[in-house]
Amino acid sequence: MASRIEPIQSAPIENSTLIESSEGDDDTDLNTEGIITSLPQKKYYRQRAHVNPLSIQNLLPPVCPSVMKWSEHYPDIGPNCVEFLDIGCGYGGLLISLSTLFADKYILGIEIRIKVMDYVNDRIKSLRLTNANQYLNISVLRTNAMKYLPNYFNKAQLTKLFFLYPDPHFKKSKHKWRIISPSLLAEYAYILQIGGVLYTATDVLEVHEWMKKHITDHSLFTPMTSEELSSDSCIPLLTTSTEEAAKVTRNGGQHYIACFKRIHDPYVKY
Ligand SMILES: C[S@@+](CC[C@H](N)C(=O)[O-])C[C@H]1O[C@@H](n2cnc3c(N)ncnc32)[C@H](O)[C@@H]1O
Repeated sequence: MASRIEPIQSAPIENSTLIESSEGDDDTDLNTEGIITSLPQKKYYRQRAHVNPLSIQNLLPPVCPSVMKWSEHYPDIGPNCVEFLDIGCGYGGLLISLSTLFADKYILGIEIRIKVMDYVNDRIKSLRLTNANQYLNISVLRTNAMKYLPNYFNKAQLTKLFFLYPDPHFKKSKHKWRIISPSLLAEYAYILQIGGVLYTATDVLEVHEWMKKHITDHSLFTPMTSEELSSDSCIPLLTTSTEEAAKVTRNGGQHYIACFKRIHDPYVKY
């Protein structure tokens, strides 16, 4: 079957621009300048739950991180850089929670589904319009995290990397679509600073075991100690802040978390 042509990444967030969401206009509130101020409604941004990440074409990443225009995402970023990354951010709940908790950090969500990314984009625009000088440190972009992370991020740029409730891809033939794998872990280790943290959460025991095994087996990660876990303010957010986390709780499911620190390469003499 021919693959569908997807529009490339939508326009970056501008604090003063009119929101151009194609759907849902009947339910939006406009201020006197015609700017939408209400939060977007998820029902207008529905898309198939699981995509084949290996079949998505027509994404145009930057050729290298230095050509990325981050000021189009974060108006006041200046010489700073993105430090926290939520991979497969879905509807953006974690970004919103992190934004106020870490007001001095720049935080990015990556999402492969275009309508879901549109929703997060509109959600952030709306929050910025209704909360002066807030939510300027979060943004979202559409890309395939399995392919293009080094195009966006320099070596050791990130301090936190989140994988919350990733698509489980149960069938053995689809395990290659899973977002945690030995080869992808090498890329995650590349963009994460020494001491940086990789967080995972899922409600699927098999996926939890899969992620834990592959990350533990990787020489550049070590599990966080119980002291490190109890003093990390992100831990409570893993099971409460995202839309999937809330759904799991609502349905009486189990949350499994596993968190790891990026460590020095044991085979390299420093
Ligand atoms: C089950 S949802 C979880 C969303 C969110 N983290 C949460 O907890 O609510 C997984 C998300 O990852 C996205 N995704 C899957 N593969 C991806 C990839 N290769 N690159 C970027 N996003 C991806 C999916 O489109 C989906 O929105």
